[in-house]
Amino acid sequence: MSASVLTTAAAAAGTGTVSSGWSWYIIALIVLNLGGCLWLIWWTGRRRPGDPSATDTSHIWDGDLTEYNKPMPRWWINLFYLTIIFTVGYLVWYPGFGAFAGTSKWTSAIEHDAEKAKQDKKLEAAFAPYAGKAIDAIAQDERAVKLGRAIFANNCATCHGSSAQGAIGYPNLTDKIWHWGGTPDQILETVLNGRQAAMPGWQDALGGPQGVTEVAVYLQSLRGERVDAGLARAGELKYAGICVSCHGVDGKGNQALGAPNLTDDYWLYGDSIAAIQESIAKGRNGAMPAHLPIIGETRARLVAAYVWSLTHKPGELAQAEAPAPEATAEATDATAADATSVDATAADATTTDAATPAAETTEAPTTDASSSPEASPATK
Ligand code: HEC
Ligand code: HEC
Repeated sequence: MSASVLTTAAAAAGTGTVSSGWSWYIIALIVLNLGGCLWLIWWTGRRRPGDPSATDTSHIWDGDLTEYNKPMPRWWINLFYLTIIFTVGYLVWYPGFGAFAGTSKWTSAIEHDAEKAKQDKKLEAAFAPYAGKAIDAIAQDERAVKLGRAIFANNCATCHGSSAQGAIGYPNLTDKIWHWGGTPDQILETVLNGRQAAMPGWQDALGGPQGVTEVAVYLQSLRGERVDAGLARAGELKYAGICVSCHGVDGKGNQALGAPNLTDDYWLYGDSIAAIQESIAKGRNGAMPAHLPIIGETRARLVAAYVWSLTHKPGELAQAEAPAPEATAEATDATAADATSVDATAADATTTDAATPAAETTEAPTTDASSSPEASPATK
């Protein structure tokens, strides 16, 4: 009977705002339906003058088959009335009667929030033991890693894949190749605050597609492939002029900038020559979103521990792989120097380009940066 109207009304009320036109439309439908039901019971149950009595019969078939004229059972009729009373009660208590909120003030949104608060509290209790703990320590706890895996599935798998093996443009987290660093602290930093890789396009600065090819060939030579020596030599000069400030003298990259190692077999954007040349010509700007605002600190720790556990055996702690103190210091110095020279490089690249399209990189001051990183701050 009025069930479909009730659901429509409830759905409309559930959306929070019902315009007054719709509200009156719904109210009219409900009143019509309920009124119709009442009228139907009264009309069918009414005894008309001339009706045969209950035990009497007015019809005879086949000469001797007769039927009674019994009224509907009382309990059945009463059930019918009860459903109507229930409907009225429902519409007084719950929202549904147009825009009328119902005396209980119940809304699905409030119920959802309360439910969610309850779940969050439960989850917080599950996460609490791991708050502020070191990533590699958390990774030793099987239950924590399980929680971390669930958090990964909900928040990271869309980009990094359900098995964390990544895709083109989305790094594989199950290997030991890290653009931003694979220590517990670095992974946590990546998850909490995100990372923005910035590699500008260099086609113009390299003097066009030919220059791009030359550097790409030079990169192939760095990986020990046999290449045209002339092209590689030309590429090496260009590399020293532009790329060195971020990717390093030996092409091994710089984790502080997220600049990848160009001498290994891992290519975030694909290993075809075309993909590599496109990276060089047009640049790449991979962005890992900050997750502190999305999942909070403790969940970030748990998921970072899960990521860390993917490349470490149970029982393994971070100490073993921490770089020697002097190596770290050196790296930091280099980073500072590089960071300064980056600006210089970018600026030079544009000016060189404007003046001489051939991009004679040897005359650019950036060469200083490549030969002695310490000298580069002076170029500022
Ligand atoms: C919107 C897509 C997206 C989501 C969601 C995402 N990531 Fe990323 N993530 C990226 C991209 C893109 C990069 C690479 C950035 C770059 O180019 O350097 C990245 C990089 C990383 C890195 C650094 C890898 C390296 O080589 O240093 C880690 C670690 C990481 N993500 C973990 C996570 C975790 C854990 C989550 C879930 C909490 C997550 N990511 C969610 C897109 C995403
Ligand atoms: C300003 C710093 C900077 C300079 C200069 C720079 N790069 Fe990059 N390069 C990056 C960063 C950061 C990435 C990572 C981009 C990403 O993850 O989206 C990158 C990525 C790449 C990639 C893609 C690697 C992959 O895994 O797919 C190639 C190839 C590359 N650079 C080559 C070069 C060459 C050749 C030059 C010189 C012409 C150069 N880069 C100059 C910062 C730089």
